[in-house]
Amino acid sequence: MAPSVQPSSSPLRTSEGDEKYANVKWEELGFSLIPTDCMYVAKCRQGESFTEGKIVPYGDISISPCCPILNYGQGLFEGLKAYRTEDDRILIFRPHENALRMQDGAERLCMAPPSVEFFVEAVKQTVLANKKWVPPPGKGALYIRPLLIGSGAILGVAPAPEYTFLIYASPVGDYHKASSGLNLRVDHKSHRAHSGGTGGVKSCTNYSPVVKSLVEAKSSGFSDVLFLDAATGRNIEEASACNIFIVKGNIVSTPPTSGTILPGITRKSISELARDIGYQVQERDVSVDEFLEADEVFCTGTAVVVKAVETVTFHDKKVKYRTGKEALSKKLHSMLTSIQTGLVEDTKGWMVDIDPCQG
Ligand code: COI
Repeated sequence: MAPSVQPSSSPLRTSEGDEKYANVKWEELGFSLIPTDCMYVAKCRQGESFTEGKIVPYGDISISPCCPILNYGQGLFEGLKAYRTEDDRILIFRPHENALRMQDGAERLCMAPPSVEFFVEAVKQTVLANKKWVPPPGKGALYIRPLLIGSGAILGVAPAPEYTFLIYASPVGDYHKASSGLNLRVDHKSHRAHSGGTGGVKSCTNYSPVVKSLVEAKSSGFSDVLFLDAATGRNIEEASACNIFIVKGNIVSTPPTSGTILPGITRKSISELARDIGYQVQERDVSVDEFLEADEVFCTGTAVVVKAVETVTFHDKKVKYRTGKEALSKKLHSMLTSIQTGLVEDTKGWMVDIDPCQG
């Protein structure tokens, strides 16, 4: 598979950039692809390890029509972000966690994963090669998308004979357009995951099944969809692309990662930050009834960061939650993004500097 370069185009991208920054309308960033200069590609045979990869121009890839990612969905993806600090360092948020999660997913899907060191080094190289696409401080982040796909041809249902580990990136702003809180609709008909399936790993196949519900919800004016567990239909699980939390008094609760919930890295970080400021954090089943009685609800994810939920609609019942300055989600968002953007000291060892010698 020799990546071939295709002309990149985006309404937010113009053809020239200065030395430090690519020519992007930084104020207008949303969550849509702005192709950058470079991507990273590595390959390995089944049963072997990834040993080398390279930075190549960003562009389309050529792949066998008979590969398992296209035919059987044998693929995983990750999402992480790099931030530019006021003193012009570039920091990546918890890449080792994404590497470990990819390893779990690879085990589930019988794929050869990159080692943690290989993954983190590849992410660093990708960010360094696309440095001028990291938005100015406070204007967004460089979203990094690692993929691990079964790329070697095989006709029957079996592990691929070859895997491709690819990383591309795009500058992004907010995932949801709503500047206030989200308006969620609880989906009581379709499910995102089931026990024994792949809901607990970041399989590519977890995402297209939610699109129908999401499109229908959006066309009715909702911002996102919340799924219930497939076994009982009574407990909340997660939204289309993010985890969910409820707050009641001093207790913050989120569904447990027992196989049908994605173990979000933002989810884990926010739980730690909430404990740091004295909240009790519980990972446990949360029924829809309890959910509708909460003081506050918020979503977390790499793309979403921390986003307050303003209303939830379940059948014909609509509930409004606390949002704004008084909301815990506001405080947690500020704590997290202050660490990510270098505004406060990272005492947790979460941030990785792509070029520690430079600062
Ligand atoms: C992320 O937050 O990185 C995600 O996986 C969301 C993505 C599906 C848009």
